[in-house]
Amino acid sequence: MAKVKTTFFCQSCGNQFAKWQGQCTACKAWNTIVEEVIQKPEKSDWKSPTSTVKRASVPLRINEIDTSKEARLDTFDAEFNRVLGGGIVPGSLTLLGGEPGIGKSTLLLQISLKLPYKTLYVSGEESQKQIKMRAERINPNNNNCYILTETKTQNIFKQIEALEPDIVIIDSIQTLHSDYIESSSGSISQIKECTTELIKFAKETATPVLLIGHITKDGHIAGPKILEHMVDTVLQFEGDRNHVFRILRANKNRFGSTNELGIYEMQGSGLREVSNPSEILISKKDEELSGNAIAATLEGMRPLMIEVQALVSTAVYGTPQRSATGFNAKRLNMLLAVLEKRAGFRLGAKDVFLNITGGITVDDPAIDLAVVASILSSNEDEALQKDFCFAAEVGLSGEIRPVQRVEQRILEAEKLGFSTIFVSKYNKISLKNTQIKIQLISKIEDVVDILL
Ligand code: TYD
Ligand code: MG
Repeated sequence: MAKVKTTFFCQSCGNQFAKWQGQCTACKAWNTIVEEVIQKPEKSDWKSPTSTVKRASVPLRINEIDTSKEARLDTFDAEFNRVLGGGIVPGSLTLLGGEPGIGKSTLLLQISLKLPYKTLYVSGEESQKQIKMRAERINPNNNNCYILTETKTQNIFKQIEALEPDIVIIDSIQTLHSDYIESSSGSISQIKECTTELIKFAKETATPVLLIGHITKDGHIAGPKILEHMVDTVLQFEGDRNHVFRILRANKNRFGSTNELGIYEMQGSGLREVSNPSEILISKKDEELSGNAIAATLEGMRPLMIEVQALVSTAVYGTPQRSATGFNAKRLNMLLAVLEKRAGFRLGAKDVFLNITGGITVDDPAIDLAVVASILSSNEDEALQKDFCFAAEVGLSGEIRPVQRVEQRILEAEKLGFSTIFVSKYNKISLKNTQIKIQLISKIEDVVDILL
């Protein structure tokens, strides 16, 4: 009998060990090393006629290389195209990660239902009936979308050979299983083997493959980081499950920028593309409320107007509470200290709560000034004019610092009908003929003077 080959893998980082040990020496995680049975495939499974003929590569001058064949496939989803950098590149592997229930399956099913190409949607998680029920909510008539429920890669490739789809979607990589490796689905060696087989298939047939990947509690794609190294593009689908917005961003993209961002809204009939997010994020209230301020932020390359709400109240207990949702709590403390020191506000005995509406998290420093303005407004219980908006960073000495791409922010604010935008005096602005008033400020004291 042939000797069974086993090896030990860290389930957290994918590192390989010859024997078991309690702690992974690579990522320092405890109790993550698991024995997996491996059996190296004698010959690779995915064989197309071209792959048997070994083509030796010759060096070419860079401007002799023909790129005309690299036309991208349009996904008919403006947000998805934008994040990918203009569509799906033939032969590419795209990994879509996200928390359970965020809408990964919905997004890819929706895209495959819109495509005019022959798409094969392979699901190892749901039955064909369940997928059909979901598809009926989204778009019932499409004759080009095929659903396969299968987890064994060898069987999947058999079906692919018979069907010859233009795009293959796998939901999810963690459920796949290859006969060449004996360990269970979802283990490091299985994921590695299945992905390798899919990469080989994609590159040899120029068929794009979209993979869904689960993520772990701490936000990494479950299983190995290696998976992220192997694929061409890693997309992350995120958002608060209790809120309607979903944000799609590229963490890695071999064929485009990672600055782009796609925004969707989850509705009863699937995901809707949100082409003008600012209009939804800002509540259009008639009355002016204290503690609200609008920030002109950038998410990736997209300008986004965001509403910041602050509530300042007298502290009931000795130690005042400071809490922030969607904003870094340490940064909030810093801004409060700056307000106290530079603008003479006694916030030490006050509770301060901060909330970014819409359930989104912002780490653009340009939101600082809006945070300060909302705190001042709530503290004085005086509403800011509702057509004011802010885009500047606040420094430790109370100086108002410039932010990147300020002109883009100003134009977005103007488009949405704001009358005044507060920016740093040190920003270079060469815009002419703007309807919006650009209020230049240099110190936090100026803000206090103008607003209150
Ligand atoms: P799903 O795509 O199954 O998430 P994932 O594959 O990332 O685990 O989506 C799940 C959620 O989306 C589910 O809780 C229900 C909701 N949903 C809608 O609100 N409307 C719809 O039309 C669909 C299909 C799902
Ligand atoms: Mg799913």
